[in-house]
Amino acid sequence: MIRQSPDNQIEDAFPSLARVPYHVGIIMDGNGRWATERGLIRYIGHRAGVDNIRPVLEASVEFGIKVLTIYAFSTENWSRPIEEVSGLMRLLGTALRNRLQELHENGVQIRHSGRLTGINEELQKQILHAIDYTKHNDTIILNVAFNYGGRGEILDATRQIIKDGIDPDSLSEETFSRYLYTEGLPDPDLIIRTGGDWRMSNFLIWQAVYAEYYSTPTYWPNFDRAELFKALNEYNRRDRRFGGVPDAE
Ligand code: FPP
Repeated sequence: MIRQSPDNQIEDAFPSLARVPYHVGIIMDGNGRWATERGLIRYIGHRAGVDNIRPVLEASVEFGIKVLTIYAFSTENWSRPIEEVSGLMRLLGTALRNRLQELHENGVQIRHSGRLTGINEELQKQILHAIDYTKHNDTIILNVAFNYGGRGEILDATRQIIKDGIDPDSLSEETFSRYLYTEGLPDPDLIIRTGGDWRMSNFLIWQAVYAEYYSTPTYWPNFDRAELFKALNEYNRRDRRFGGVPDAE
């Protein structure tokens, strides 16, 4: 995936980073405001949001990120007007139809985090096909959080643990994590939120306990490679102690 600017010059590389987060989560907020400020309907903002996933994914590969989890539809988003909900469903279907082959050829492994129940059957099939089709790819994992809610995820895991008859006294955090939608993925190191708010909005609430948090006022459709680099640079300034004491003490 070689990046070229419109006048066909290869874009300058950013200085190298001492630490690159292995797993980055993105709360892609601000599509609606991006559209409204341009006098457009919100759906156009979501479409611009989908179009922005590709360049950010390319930049993620370039910077060495190995897992990118994008928050595309939360369980709370069902409360939006029906046209907006069906627009978001349609956008995922179209993206999977039009982009799957290209993603596959670029070594992207698709994963899904969230409930399939509630999503229409055709879209469920497309999601399952994309996961299966790309399962051996290893350039980057694109984990799409769709019909996702962190509390629901914890409930779903708990229900399954009970059904499996796991002994409560031997239940460990490691075992619990294996029951989450993100099974097998390391916890996110960095959570980026676009659109200016400072909220988790039910995103990866179990997994993100020690993630560094970064919020930018930039709306998601405008969040580009330079913005991603800024977030990674800020991540490099953070001192991650995981509840311990600073190294020097
Ligand atoms: C919030 O913008 C964004 C979402 C509802 C989720 C992000 C969705 C996309 C990027 C498009 C769908 C992606 C896929 C893969 C189908 P908002 O509407 O809350 O913006 P606002 O806060 O400005 O109103």
